[in-house]
Amino acid sequence: MTGNRAVVYKGPGRVAVEATEYPDLVLKDGPGVNPLNVGRKCEHGVILKVVSTNICGSDQHMVRGRTTAPEGLVLGHEITGEVVEVGRDVEFIHKGDLVSVPFNIACGRCTNCKHGDTHICLHVNPDRPGSAYGYVDMGGWVGGQAEYVMVPYADFQLLKFPDKEQAMAKILDLTMLSDIFPTGFHGAVTAGVTIGSTVYVAGAGPVGLAAAHSAQLLGASVVIVGDLNEQRLAQARSFGCETVNLSEHDDLGEQIEQILGLPEVDCAIDCVGFEAHGHGHVHTEAPATVLNTMMQITRAGGKLGIPGLYVTGDPGATDEDAKVGSLKIRIGLGWAKAHSFTTGQTPVMRYHRQLMNAILSGRAAIAKAVNATVISLYEAPAGYQEFNDGVARKFVLDPHGLINR
Ligand SMILES: NC(=O)c1ccc[n+]([C@@H]2O[C@H](COP(=O)([O-])OP(=O)(O)OC[C@H]3O[C@@H](n4cnc5c(N)ncnc54)[C@H](O)[C@@H]3O)[C@@H](O)[C@H]2O)c1
Ligand SMILES: [Zn+2]
Ligand SMILES: [Zn+2]
Repeated sequence: MTGNRAVVYKGPGRVAVEATEYPDLVLKDGPGVNPLNVGRKCEHGVILKVVSTNICGSDQHMVRGRTTAPEGLVLGHEITGEVVEVGRDVEFIHKGDLVSVPFNIACGRCTNCKHGDTHICLHVNPDRPGSAYGYVDMGGWVGGQAEYVMVPYADFQLLKFPDKEQAMAKILDLTMLSDIFPTGFHGAVTAGVTIGSTVYVAGAGPVGLAAAHSAQLLGASVVIVGDLNEQRLAQARSFGCETVNLSEHDDLGEQIEQILGLPEVDCAIDCVGFEAHGHGHVHTEAPATVLNTMMQITRAGGKLGIPGLYVTGDPGATDEDAKVGSLKIRIGLGWAKAHSFTTGQTPVMRYHRQLMNAILSGRAAIAKAVNATVISLYEAPAGYQEFNDGVARKFVLDPHGLINR
């Protein structure tokens, strides 16, 4: 049996690449594994040789010590790989298939999965509905920033690429199907983006850039991206977005008015989450900023897509309320404007096949939009550091050196 290597969370601010166990078709005990999940047999699963696995802003919340993630947790929920072993109960996925793994883990058998709500599967996480690989409070499924990983419910979940050679030629785009492309797209769809819409995207990280590209694909007339990071805003401008630098101004409405001629948009997408920074003269973290400013600048009857993550436990929060996820949200304003809000994980499977086709046909250019950058597994600690420092890149780990750089 071959060994394994993986990116491991070592406590606030630290990750390391360590030797770990080669995966098995069973969920074993380990850091963060819910006792009720220990010993779960996964004959419906496969073992993947990981071809690409991306670092995500969601990982950063844990690595910054802003969650209750335990030390020793193997990270990584954005996984693309080649099937090297199939469980006894897998019928339609075969050894050698090149597949994209939705970051949510979903059984395909519960009432939520049957309705397409694979982001809140009832059977995979004893703590609460919904699960993911390598993530705090998600049941303990081992992360995929590794050479090999086990993926359960393979027939239901996996998206097989039709042609391996064609897929490897577009792998930097296809690797975004496990999370951020569907997540940005879901943000745009749930914000109601359609032909001619004016759209505000909060955050120019990879998810914000994916949401902006998705809004363009859906026919938006103007996409305005806001952030405090000028390098990331330049990345947004590189594919046709308007931008606003939020560090320069207190009033987002006025900044939008300078672009659109009125201080309002049809649709708004929060791609920041609970570690939001204040605008203008507010030089500190202000976790409700994005939600409150989006209500301010979205037209009455508009929709707010909220893929940005909000947590139920934040040990690093500045006040007691925020430590349990209670934020000062001006819900009266949202109510008065009859806004709709969509929160939660992205149901990746609702979108990944269509977005794969958009990539393969050349219609979507997600790798370019997010500036996909390949590094080796060993460079992961440096990648985490640079990403945390705010570079305008989406890091793609290449554990077996299979990607043409
Ligand atoms: N819902 C889901 O399924 C899902 C999936 C993937 C990621 N996420 C979440 O999406 C969010 C973004 O992910 P990412 O990888 O792009 O993270 P990221 O940390 O790289 O990007 C966040 C960006 O927000 C900017 N920012 C901070 N305060 C701001 C403000 N007030 N207004 C506008 N921008 C502000 C930061 O400067 C940064 O560039 C994270 O919270 C992540 O956990 C959710
Ligand atoms: Zn992610
Ligand atoms: Zn389910």
